[in-house]
Amino acid sequence: MARILITSAIPYINGIKHLGNLVGSQLPADLTARYLRARGHEVMFICATDEHGTPAELAAAKAGKPVEAYCAEMHEVQKALGAGFRLSFDHFGRSSSARNRALTQYFARTLGEQGLIAEVAEQQVFSIDDNRFLPDRYIEGTCPNCGYDKARGDQCENCTKQLDPTDLINPRSAVSGSTRLEVRETKHLYLRQKSLREDLRAWITSKSDWPVLTTSIALKWLDDGEGLQDRGITRDLYWGVPAQFEGAPWQGMDGKVFYVWFDAPIEYIAATAEWADAQGLGDEAWQRWWRTDKGAEDVRYIEFMGKDNVPFHTLSFPATIIGANRAGGAQWKLVDYIKSFNYLNYDGGQFSTSQGRGVFMDQALSILPADYWRWWLLSHAPESSDSEFTWENFQASVNKDLADVLGNFVSRITKFCRSKFGEVVPEGGATGPREEILIGELTARIRAYEGLMEAMEVRKAAAELRAIWVAGNEYLQSAAPWTVVKTDAAAAAAQVRLSLNLTRLYAVLSAPFIPDAAAAMMAAMGCEDWSWPGDIAAALEVLPAGHAFTVPDVLFRKITDEERADWQTRFAGVRT
Ligand code: 2FM
Ligand code: ZN
Repeated sequence: MARILITSAIPYINGIKHLGNLVGSQLPADLTARYLRARGHEVMFICATDEHGTPAELAAAKAGKPVEAYCAEMHEVQKALGAGFRLSFDHFGRSSSARNRALTQYFARTLGEQGLIAEVAEQQVFSIDDNRFLPDRYIEGTCPNCGYDKARGDQCENCTKQLDPTDLINPRSAVSGSTRLEVRETKHLYLRQKSLREDLRAWITSKSDWPVLTTSIALKWLDDGEGLQDRGITRDLYWGVPAQFEGAPWQGMDGKVFYVWFDAPIEYIAATAEWADAQGLGDEAWQRWWRTDKGAEDVRYIEFMGKDNVPFHTLSFPATIIGANRAGGAQWKLVDYIKSFNYLNYDGGQFSTSQGRGVFMDQALSILPADYWRWWLLSHAPESSDSEFTWENFQASVNKDLADVLGNFVSRITKFCRSKFGEVVPEGGATGPREEILIGELTARIRAYEGLMEAMEVRKAAAELRAIWVAGNEYLQSAAPWTVVKTDAAAAAAQVRLSLNLTRLYAVLSAPFIPDAAAAMMAAMGCEDWSWPGDIAAALEVLPAGHAFTVPDVLFRKITDEERADWQTRFAGVRT
């Protein structure tokens, strides 16, 4: 049994996330957490809302609410939607927590004491019409790297390059649209990550098992132009972790807060502390996950994120950790594996939060249960390249994989048994060569499935699981107990007994992907044995003859052509 720490990129607080966001981090992280728990490992699965900075301030202003109230409300909304999608977080925290404030200031102070933070008098964009400095997202313009004309002051969404507001060409205020901008001098704190460049390179290049998507993005920005640049980690904002605090090794930072990307990843740690607080546990309970000097040396830490988040998780956050560890006191854990995702597109274009394009988490749950979405999203996860959601593809996958293959198997076998033998597992004769072949195929496929789940090959794992369902269906089709029963009731009973056991086994294997349907299957089998199958023949004998079961309600219904057309129209427009 291993100890595995899993974090999902923490979603911005501003607004409900779309399905592209969900499949890029939280959902595959949940899949892995569920699988590893099922295999008996000790898992800590952490997520939170990313509440600070300009996104939150701008959204709260738009909603006409104080930013604190806006964040508190939206946190509850996102938490409820996460629960609706059955995301099994051990804790869903808030980056505005007292824990994060303390830890962020601790890291800043420690880095400062190591000489890794510089006070820099900097030229910053000031908006005359707005009468304020314009930090990152308050300013928009053209990306100097790729020419995208809606690049933000902190990062270009199009090419993922991290930017500073003064890098933008043709800048304008995101508050008022004003172009009456001028550059004024102000003082900010900079993380001297340039001096950590070789440490970062050594660390990244030591990760030979990382996905190419992850390392290529990391090395690209490590060596971009002059190489890794020192980055401003403070902003002229109200909402954030104050950069001036007791014990700070600098002065004159009043009214400034840490940049949201400085405190957001620290929230992974803070949320684990929030978890311990909520459980009434002491500091050692969360430190054993994060501090290698407090028992975390045997923890495997896996991060999940979309590709736009990779630079921050391979450069900035590790720079914080490596730098703080140089102080020689507390030793913090660096990530062991980063699973990153490409983008999911929507019906011929892009999902877009700003333009309200696509299906958002609340809308998805309002039309179909979580499992339908989980299955489609995970079986089409944008791993090796971007992938696309289309309503045709969604309908086809739900109707075929879930309704025709899995749902139909469970429905056929339970109804047939009820009609011929009653709602108990029948006593029957011995199984024969057909069953031997099935068990052989299941064994090979289940071992392959385990390997793929371990490797976090999400799409391939889904395909293998589907093949496991297909094997059962084909077996049932060719065994045809409904025909056999006419001449050999004992042989038919043996086939039925095996198939009911296979239903239970499907519940165990499928639970990471479709937890609600799995629970319904297990409940119908009148069983609570969720143990992962070792020997497959033995796993198909868990339900003994005489064991009572029930016929479950329809597990998955089909999506009709009318529904598909209706949803396609309904979600084509722009959400307000
Ligand atoms: O891209 C995003 O949604 C960011 N809020 C992710 C932050 S992940 C982290 F560093 F905490
Ligand atoms: Zn760009």
